[in-house]
Amino acid sequence: MNKFYITTPIYYTNADPHIGHAYTTVLCDVLARWNRLKGNDTFFLTGTDEHGLKIERKAVQNKKDTQVFVDEYVSIFKDLWKKLNIDYDNFIRTTSTEHKKVVQSVLQTLYEAGDIYKGVYRGLYCVGCEQFKNEEELLNGKCPDHNIEAEIVEEECYLMKMNKWQKTLIKRIKNNEFEIKPQYYKKEMISFLERQGLKDISISRKNLKWGIPLPFDQKHVAYVWIDALLNYLTGIGWDGNVRNVLNYWPPNCQVMGKDILRVHATIWPSLLLNLGLSLPKLFIHGLILSRGKKMSKTLGNIISPYEMFKKFGSDGTRYLLLSGGSFGEDLDLTMERMIEKYNADLANGLGNLVQRTIGMINKNLDGRNPNLAIKLKKDKKVGKLIEELKFEEALKEIWQIIASADAYISEKKPWQLDNKKELNKVLGKVRNDILEISSLLTPFMPETSKKIEEVFKGPEIKIIPPLFPRIF
Ligand code: MSP
Repeated sequence: MNKFYITTPIYYTNADPHIGHAYTTVLCDVLARWNRLKGNDTFFLTGTDEHGLKIERKAVQNKKDTQVFVDEYVSIFKDLWKKLNIDYDNFIRTTSTEHKKVVQSVLQTLYEAGDIYKGVYRGLYCVGCEQFKNEEELLNGKCPDHNIEAEIVEEECYLMKMNKWQKTLIKRIKNNEFEIKPQYYKKEMISFLERQGLKDISISRKNLKWGIPLPFDQKHVAYVWIDALLNYLTGIGWDGNVRNVLNYWPPNCQVMGKDILRVHATIWPSLLLNLGLSLPKLFIHGLILSRGKKMSKTLGNIISPYEMFKKFGSDGTRYLLLSGGSFGEDLDLTMERMIEKYNADLANGLGNLVQRTIGMINKNLDGRNPNLAIKLKKDKKVGKLIEELKFEEALKEIWQIIASADAYISEKKPWQLDNKKELNKVLGKVRNDILEISSLLTPFMPETSKKIEEVFKGPEIKIIPPLFPRIF
């Protein structure tokens, strides 16, 4: 049995989840479900990133105790994942005692090894990104992603050694020991590292209370990204001791948007190299755009995942996110286009095929499940596409089976057939196609698959309400 360890980034608890979050999480859920179906020992980790300046400020603005403030958002995230049928194995919170303890012990280890040292850091800090920025990354002093002024920060701090890893990192990215996919993101990171190099970074903040205190200097708290990145280790129950074997390490698949690739391709591997741990594989997706811009709270152009859930249901939302564009590239989603696609592919496509087949079996075979052996073809194509995260293409393959089942019905015209034996065979074949479709859809649309199987695997085919009611 192979192990499969997959992670989402952990989400900031300063605002309601948006479809960018839902997108990353649904992608991971499909892969996790697929690996479980294959019998792999799968661990799917998600969670929340709860420290840092931006969260502390937001809590103060809302006149709430910071812990109470983040607790509320954690329930909101968990509730959305429940709605979208996200079947994670652990939900890690960076304010949990276990996480904090391990972060401190890791920092102590690095400090003792000389990989963390005291210094002064001066730079321009974007609170939106929780990152220091180069002048060239800013537009008129503002962060282009958040449209807010970067703040000048100059303070005594602790730095982590990263510069020494530059050559190693470039080499490992090039030879896929540290894999970054799709290919164009790998190239982008190699050229970034060759051009800019790797500088040691500040890993502590002095004038911030909302964070994990450094064990060797309580006046500082850990930089929120260091704290956050370590979730991938604490989330599988690591105790912080580098000698202790981690069953699931390293992650087979870390999914994230391109906006956080750079941190994950510089700070993250440097941290792991300093600890002597092996490197993960990164899978980078594009951003969901709205009016040509990244959707963000700050820009106020958000399509809410709740609105999608209300309109399209759990599987409808999953389907529309997964088929909205090809993995790696940006997707431009609008409500109007999603409604059209829902009606075409789900209400008319899959939903109608299921509904009319149930109808024909009831009308012509008195509701008895056709007497024909259930045989499912061995599909290799869809599985391969899933493993390459080509979900849009995988779904197109499945929709081809829907189209050919529809074409078969139109050709055979079961409603004109008098011969019961022939009728039984034709409807049996359509039922087999439907079961094939539902089996392939299991990781994508688990609720729908279950409903279809409940109908078509019993002796009687019962009439059910439409799977995807048309939206007008
Ligand atoms: N807390 C950090 C991650 C720490 S991981 C050690 C963070 N959180 S986030 O809440 O801002 O976003 C996390 C994920 O949501 C990222 O994968 C990011 O790419 C994704 N998205 C955020 N906005 C997005 C879109 N508009 N579109 C698609 N995904 C985007 O970053």
